[in-house]
Amino acid sequence: MSILVINGPNLNLLGTREPGIYGATTLADIEAAAIAQGEAAGHTVECFQSNHEGAIVDRIHAARTDGTQFVVINPGAYTHTSVAIRDAFAGVEVPFCEVHISNVHKREAFRHHSYLSDIAVGVMAGFGVMGYTLALEFVIEQLKNQG
Ligand code: DQA
Repeated sequence: MSILVINGPNLNLLGTREPGIYGATTLADIEAAAIAQGEAAGHTVECFQSNHEGAIVDRIHAARTDGTQFVVINPGAYTHTSVAIRDAFAGVEVPFCEVHISNVHKREAFRHHSYLSDIAVGVMAGFGVMGYTLALEFVIEQLKNQG
């Protein structure tokens, strides 16, 4: 079974981007760890990153028919702005977990609202890059229960 990990805008800069907030781990490290974690549980993990809202919408649409069972997404700043990404998830009905490296709730007020959280299966925030690992562990468990 297949899991899709989506990272939104500016997450390609992880490792050098505001390391005090986001740490020193690169996106390549996160993706390699996610692929290995999935593989160890018998799942294919595909990783996708884009700085473009429409490209993320297109990738979510493709998930409806490409065998994706579950999506783990860090939507970056689009979390707080994108009705289009919300509507894409609502349209394809593929379950997803939302991940934030930082604790968005202890940051600026504009980061406190997410257009995705109320339709996500679960939300991780503030656990650093371990949030991806924890979300994937949950997803792997969910897929086990699905048979
Ligand atoms: C983020 C939090 C967002 O507010 C921000 O725009 C990001 C990263 C996080 O992982 O903590 O780009 O999603």
